[in-house]
Amino acid sequence: MSAPIFTNWTAATTASWAQAPLRLAHRLSEHPLYSLDALAEVIEGYPRQHYALVEMGPQGSNRRLWREGDIGRLSGREVIEAIKRGRMWLNLRNISGVDRRYKDVLDQIFEEVRGNVPGYDTYDRTCGILISSPNAQVYYHMDLPGQSLWQLHGKKRVYLYPTTAPYLTGEQLERIALYEVEVDIPYDVSYDKDATVFEIGPGEMLHWPLNAPHRVENLDCLNVSMTTEYWTETIRRSQIINMANGILRDKVGITPKTRNLAGPGFYAKAVLQAGVKRSGLLKKARKSRRPVEFQLDRDHLGAVIDLPKAAE
Ligand SMILES: [Fe+2]
Repeated sequence: MSAPIFTNWTAATTASWAQAPLRLAHRLSEHPLYSLDALAEVIEGYPRQHYALVEMGPQGSNRRLWREGDIGRLSGREVIEAIKRGRMWLNLRNISGVDRRYKDVLDQIFEEVRGNVPGYDTYDRTCGILISSPNAQVYYHMDLPGQSLWQLHGKKRVYLYPTTAPYLTGEQLERIALYEVEVDIPYDVSYDKDATVFEIGPGEMLHWPLNAPHRVENLDCLNVSMTTEYWTETIRRSQIINMANGILRDKVGITPKTRNLAGPGFYAKAVLQAGVKRSGLLKKARKSRRPVEFQLDRDHLGAVIDLPKAAE
């Protein structure tokens, strides 16, 4: 794609990039790689270990009522139709690692960002495609890498919260870094009065400051979005602090006092977290993979067939 992907970038965008929530226009919704036909084809060849299919409970139900499944023998088009009629989402995680064509688009995106924001060097970039049911929601959480959300089909409402307490604390970031529990973060409806709310449709994308908490509600239509993730030197250092402060607080019993990203304190923490990581002590704490509990029903698109529980 030779035409720019971002279509309304201005000097004000450059000034706000990663500093404030931003809504920008993009061209990817018209790109053939993101049509439903192209995505249906991608689904059919997608390696099992790289996708997650999740069924959710009805709106307002306990957030733990969700389980993982398999697309079974459905065609790509049937999978999309099943999601349109059901209450689930399919995450084609790491599509940039699976299919070179999507990596090329991802590279172009970040070349354009760097062209617009001097010195904004990114690495370990990945993207995923999320196909989700009408009215599906993603609970309040925050992510450790830099993130953007690109809307391709359908509409969703995105709530972005401030990056200060109580919305976001160092302790929450530490827990996510150590235990990957980003969806168990406490949320209260009163937070919404301080949220910046965007309703985005095809051709719109959002970018927000590092770790900004967010939650998402689909409107009453099938949704297809892309998430892009990336790292910068600042984000890498911030992750070192999350790990080291988490180890100090949780394993050593010391309340960390700073989140400095440079200086002697930072380097001592960098050495500490590297040592603990190498020791393998943290491995056991991480959650194990969820079992596959259902399969899509080819005869009743939108319904699922429960699978017998696999022996451990
Ligand atoms: Fe997120």
